Amino acid sequence: MKSRFSLFQSHLDLAHSYWARLLQPGDYAMDATCGNGHDTLKLAQLLNGTGRVWGIDLQKEAIDNTRALLKAQLTDAALNSVSLFEQSHATFPESVSRYPLRLVIYNLGYLPKGDKTVTTMTAITLQSVRLAMDLLLPGGAVSITCYPGHPEGACEDLALQELCRSLSPALWSVCMHTFTNRVASPRLLLIQKADPAPQM
Ligand SMILES: C[S@@+](CC[C@H](N)C(=O)[O-])C[C@H]1O[C@@H](n2cnc3c(N)ncnc32)[C@H](O)[C@@H]1O
Repeated sequence: MKSRFSLFQSHLDLAHSYWARLLQPGDYAMDATCGNGHDTLKLAQLLNGTGRVWGIDLQKEAIDNTRALLKAQLTDAALNSVSLFEQSHATFPESVSRYPLRLVIYNLGYLPKGDKTVTTMTAITLQSVRLAMDLLLPGGAVSITCYPGHPEGACEDLALQELCRSLSPALWSVCMHTFTNRVASPRLLLIQKADPAPQM
């Protein structure tokens, strides 16, 4: 169906367009909240079998859904470049920590059509985002979509904004997108690490 608003349909469309601008062939990227796999799929499609994509989710159901979606949509090369982990993003798999990441993404909240009581939690989200920021390449970014329309999401939103405000503008560029004319609009937060030697 044709949208009434042609620039982008949602904060996720907007996020995807930033990921496409940032990622380069051979990059390393991580989806820290796989859910039903749509964002992991997008990362794998953008890298198209080059580099590596890691996907993490706390729930087996989410990892199973992600695996099924990737199998249905990706070429063998792209599929083989993705590794999935059923675990909390409070820490990252050891193999991930050895690679400089261009992009780490979070789509916070609960599994759509799943158990709404299993949701990302503010303290763990903050811990994980800080960890991800440490693992970024210069010029790399953390992309976070956040949903203040449910109670834990509202806490995450405030805590993440506080974290972002505390970051030195010499070292980090932070941008928040929100639909100003919508109540409890989802947010897109982009946190980019400075690149001291940008390519011309
Ligand atoms: C909104 S969904 C993600 C949607 C997904 N990106 C997609 O494209 O379908 C949020 C996911 O975060 C997961 N989650 C919650 N707490 C987590 C944690 N501590 N570590 C990893 N995943 C977590 C949930 O299980 C849920 O699947």
